[in-house]
Amino acid sequence: MFENEERERSAVSVVGLGQMGARLAQAFLAAGHRTTVWNRTPAKAEALAARGAARADTLAGAIAASPLVVVCLPDYGVVTDLLAGADLRGRVLVNLTSGTPQEARRMAGGIGAGYLDGAAMSGTRLVGRPEALFVFSGDPDVFATHRPVLRSLGQAVHLGADPGLAAVYDTALFGLAWGALAGFHHAVALTGAEGVAPEEFAAVATGHMPFVTSLMTEHARQVAKGEYPDDDGTVEVHAAAMEHLVHTSAALGVRTDVPELVKALLDRAAAAGHGADGIASVVEAIGNATARV
Ligand SMILES: NC(=O)c1ccc[n+]([C@@H]2O[C@H](COP(=O)([O-])OP(=O)(O)OC[C@H]3O[C@@H](n4cnc5c(N)ncnc54)[C@H](OP(=O)(O)O)[C@@H]3O)[C@@H](O)[C@H]2O)c1
Repeated sequence: MFENEERERSAVSVVGLGQMGARLAQAFLAAGHRTTVWNRTPAKAEALAARGAARADTLAGAIAASPLVVVCLPDYGVVTDLLAGADLRGRVLVNLTSGTPQEARRMAGGIGAGYLDGAAMSGTRLVGRPEALFVFSGDPDVFATHRPVLRSLGQAVHLGADPGLAAVYDTALFGLAWGALAGFHHAVALTGAEGVAPEEFAAVATGHMPFVTSLMTEHARQVAKGEYPDDDGTVEVHAAAMEHLVHTSAALGVRTDVPELVKALLDRAAAAGHGADGIASVVEAIGNATARV
């Protein structure tokens, strides 16, 4: 009896079975949750039904089947149109559709149900594994109630009560990943020009990443204080090193736009008076350009 109740409580419906939605449903099923699925094109539910998902014939059926309803559709316009008129009373909607903070806040205010906004940060391949990062924002009590189900997707991180936060982090983390990847791709081209195999370089680079993440932690502390000690070198020293990277790249026939972008940031920070400060002061030349630089 208790087991049945528990299974009902942790039942989940997934609406939208595209590339991401199908993986979400698979992860819920793999974690043992009773999973109901609905998709506009019904054929996409077949493979999931074969794995044990219940197929709802209608959207209303999917919503009625579970206390937790996860939607994953192309954009908020589609979500709004699809859910117009749906009876969501007593349900919690988790929206894993990409959008803006404003869209998330608007939806949270108008949905007439419990609401968590969320973002899938690690593509589709890792969904269901602990390395997959999912960020959520909205009512902390609602998150705490449904965390046992949501953590089937991967690492489920609650960012705060403001429903717009997941969308903010979504774009910020995307930019962070690309900043790191652009540096990596440039480095692969540079070392490749000297005959280093990409896999060999990647192995050494991966071992270097804990140093980089330790700098993120330390720099966050410095930015929060607005104090930039030069323990990791000054802006001027790093600008000179970046100039060296630009020249080395050019000499090897490798394009210089990636290091030039970083050099421009360092130069801007120096021009704003941070030349003798630590490199975290570059933040001031980006985010608070009008307020503090
Ligand atoms: N794929 C990724 O790697 C990834 C990673 C992070 C975030 N996301 C986000 O996840 C969301 C979904 O992406 P996806 O890659 O799964 O997209 P997708 O593969 O293109 O799937 C889109 C889904 O939305 C449904 N849909 C589209 N228009 C609809 C409408 N008017 N009414 C009802 N259903 C409709 C489609 O149904 P049909 O089957 O009937 O067309 C399909 O199930 C997006 O916001 C995306 O940014 C995706």
